[in-house]
Amino acid sequence: MATLIWGTRPRSLAAAVGQVPKLLQASVPRQWQHNLQTSAQVLPKVSDFAFAFDIDGVLLRSSNPLPRARKALSYLQEQRIPFILLTNGGGKSEKERVQEISDHLEVPLDVSMFVQAHTPFAELVGEYKDKCILVVGGEGDKCRKVAENYGFANVLTPADLITAFPNLWPFGSFQNYKPYARALSNSTLSPRSYTPNLTPPPLKIDAIFIFHDPRDWALDTQLLLDLLLSSSGHLGSLSPKNGNPSLPNNGYQQDSQPPLYFSNPDLLWAAAYHLPRLGQGGFREAFEGVWKAVTGNAKLEKKMFGKPHQETFAFAEKRLARHRHALLGAGRSRIGTEGLKRVYMVGDNPESDIQGANEFKSPAGSQWRSILVRSGVFDEGKEPVHRPDVVVGDVWDAVEWGLEREGWK
Ligand code: G3P
Ligand code: MG
Repeated sequence: MATLIWGTRPRSLAAAVGQVPKLLQASVPRQWQHNLQTSAQVLPKVSDFAFAFDIDGVLLRSSNPLPRARKALSYLQEQRIPFILLTNGGGKSEKERVQEISDHLEVPLDVSMFVQAHTPFAELVGEYKDKCILVVGGEGDKCRKVAENYGFANVLTPADLITAFPNLWPFGSFQNYKPYARALSNSTLSPRSYTPNLTPPPLKIDAIFIFHDPRDWALDTQLLLDLLLSSSGHLGSLSPKNGNPSLPNNGYQQDSQPPLYFSNPDLLWAAAYHLPRLGQGGFREAFEGVWKAVTGNAKLEKKMFGKPHQETFAFAEKRLARHRHALLGAGRSRIGTEGLKRVYMVGDNPESDIQGANEFKSPAGSQWRSILVRSGVFDEGKEPVHRPDVVVGDVWDAVEWGLEREGWK
């Protein structure tokens, strides 16, 4: 393998792998080292290209593996061609989710080659370290745990707020929040009309993160509205600037309200049902409708993450580069993003996978190509808004197309 090229010939591939620093070896799933062993005799080539695979509609439909998904990933592993999984899904820790996918596909995978919708939020911990954030979406309080694992120290959920202040949403909820609601540190902070210097001040939320598809659109919509109309995120207060025509955006979101982060723009996605289902983007569109109705068409200031956004692709490219380095390159100068010339993005959604790859401006100068598969949300009858480099049947066809472009035999 590597050192075959560099001349200092270790006794065997095991020795070659042994030269890979422990840390980097860790990013090569153990079972995959077996694939390396077996491939050593065959192909000591090093690819200056890689793949990025979407999950829903490309590798899996809900938790059911799609045809030839396993074949595609196993073949790339045997050939030591780096790839990552890049999904707008989420709602649980990267470790838990990558293990699930690895089990479903029976292919060794690990977190070093995996990016979920909310994974880039981990880079915002520094900004909100000791601040109070509201995490919305997902099952129970799984997303709270993911946020805490990232390092956010003070994480609240809608369950905590509706349990502490039942009048927040008069129609109660079909969900029993109690099992995963946490008592607020001091519940006397009940939201009430806010006047400055009120002691103790009402609960203050410093940022809102939509980690995954909200389960209770009604309660979550009410909470977001309350906080974005509040004064500086003090729950239960109303900003005196709201509706002031002399201010930008008619005074809305002009009073240090908490920033609103969305992790996934997908309006529709390919789940188990035979027709596409509404995603987090559906909730956002619904909330924007309420916001415009309540504010008289004010703009909703928000921060968007997830495919097709530049931040998410840049984050994914860095992760791919590190993984590629671990896989191919200890000791090699031209590894990391240098040397990664092309990335083939394989996706089923023109608005997220294809648009993202087409518009991505790689800080490392890599060229991203876009491959649209027919196994997911893409509606054959419609001309894709964002034109892919090619449309193919499924993920194996996509891999074949990429390898052909590369002349990889
Ligand atoms: O909620 C997940 C969905 O929006 C799409 O996921 O894997 O196709 O990016 P994916
Ligand atoms: Mg998809």
